[in-house]
Amino acid sequence: MGRPFIFGTNFKMNQTPAESVTFYRELAARVTTRPHTQCYVIPPYTSLPAVSEIARDDDSQIWIGAQNMHWAPEGAYTGEISARILKALDVDLVLLGHAERRGLFYETDPDLNRKLLTAFDAGFRVLLAVGETADERHYRVSAETVSRQLKIDLHGIPAAHASHLIVAYEPVWSIGAGGTPASPGDVEPVAMLIRDVLAGLFGPAGRDVPVLYGGSVNPENAAAFTVLPDIDGLLVGRAGWTVEGFLATYEAALAGRDLAASRG
Ligand code: 13P
Repeated sequence: MGRPFIFGTNFKMNQTPAESVTFYRELAARVTTRPHTQCYVIPPYTSLPAVSEIARDDDSQIWIGAQNMHWAPEGAYTGEISARILKALDVDLVLLGHAERRGLFYETDPDLNRKLLTAFDAGFRVLLAVGETADERHYRVSAETVSRQLKIDLHGIPAAHASHLIVAYEPVWSIGAGGTPASPGDVEPVAMLIRDVLAGLFGPAGRDVPVLYGGSVNPENAAAFTVLPDIDGLLVGRAGWTVEGFLATYEAALAGRDLAASRG
């Protein structure tokens, strides 16, 4: 069996707990589950208790993710959340290295390495986001940036943890209202590079790590990414923040995936 197809949305700093619950309930009722296909939602921390409690009792099997996590087991880190706190909330997934964490909150690759070590030790799946800035793209060092991020972030992680890793390629210049989506031609070579770096780090297990694309994905362009042989799913922002938008983007993403499968 090949790599699973993984699709979901990061809510960033949006949604009250009540709004997350309404969203999650409607999504869980309407989303079609498919074999070897996994959906996820990543609400703010404050929504996690309520949403993960509902998730425990429904059949949709949508993963619930946290947007960040500190590396220390506990201590004087005002405003931070530890693995132990997230464990108590039944979180399935931790998003680490999002471009907004790196860019706006100065999260460095050595910080991320500590976070990944802690997250894997705690038994979490990690969705690790990597991607170059507009300047790095301009100077044609996207490949160097992405490889450096992966090599530092994953330094010292045993190959046994590769089965709990998902990597998202999110070029910084493609994210958010001011961003332009990358073209499939931009994405495919970087996805191949990510796969090669992961194989270098983890051996054959690295080739089984799902690689997602994120950045201004919407129902119109989703299939153009998921048809790519090295893209195994999507990390959606704004387009996934309504149930209608999530489902429309998901259906489009699946159509791209099906087209790729029919081409063999
Ligand atoms: P947008 O889809 O809104 O560009 O956001 C992408 C993203 O950052 C998801 O984490």
